[in-house]
Amino acid sequence: MKKSGVVIVAAGRGERLKSDIPKAFIQLLGKPLYKYSLEVFLNHPDIDEVVLVVPSEKVGGVPKNRCQVVGGGATRQESVINGLAALSPKCESVLVHDAARPFVTDALIDRLLATLAEGKSGIVAWPVPDTLKRAKGDIILETVDRSHFWAAQTPQAFPVAILKEALQKAKEENFVGTDEASVVERLGLEVCLVLGDARNIKITTQYDLTLAQALLKYFNI
Ligand code: CTP
Ligand code: MG
Repeated sequence: MKKSGVVIVAAGRGERLKSDIPKAFIQLLGKPLYKYSLEVFLNHPDIDEVVLVVPSEKVGGVPKNRCQVVGGGATRQESVINGLAALSPKCESVLVHDAARPFVTDALIDRLLATLAEGKSGIVAWPVPDTLKRAKGDIILETVDRSHFWAAQTPQAFPVAILKEALQKAKEENFVGTDEASVVERLGLEVCLVLGDARNIKITTQYDLTLAQALLKYFNI
């Protein structure tokens, strides 16, 4: 059986949240944000290795039960590279996940593992619900066909060798992407869209934090 690992990136500063402590370490109903997704991956039967990437000053202070903890880089992409370097060579596939998305579920992980089992890379994504306008400044140029647009979420899943090659090439060419799929797409390789979950939100602003608290209380998770 091929082994799969996950790299959870939690090394960002959370500038848009305007918090004194790094975003992934903010308490959400009494638990640090990063722990929500960490626990989902640690408890998933088909995830064999977990690497958590945190700000370097936090490495010593994070419990290392059943996971490795490594320091991050200046960009999300560098943090992913650091996390991948810690993964054992036994892992042929890897999922990359933002600690800022606490509501990842087993179902999303299962869908991505099924995609990997078919030999494909995949990301969870959600169809954009709004009518979409292309604009120059505040003037609409056209209304685009919404059915072609998806909002990318995480986890994103790849064969390790492909993701490492794509990140190496991106580094050489000074390309910094905001997700892993974008660096793999640049190689001309196919990345599949897998249905995500509307609840799999990313905590970016204070509003998102309030929304996450409300969701946790409402859904009792
Ligand atoms: N991340 C990381 N290393 C970085 C930057 C980001 O590991 N150098 C992680 C964050 O911890 C987060 C995920 O990447 O889990 C998505 O990034 P984002 O939501 O942008 O978080 P921050 O970079 O922390 O927030 P901001 O951009 O507002 O500073
Ligand atoms: Mg950021």
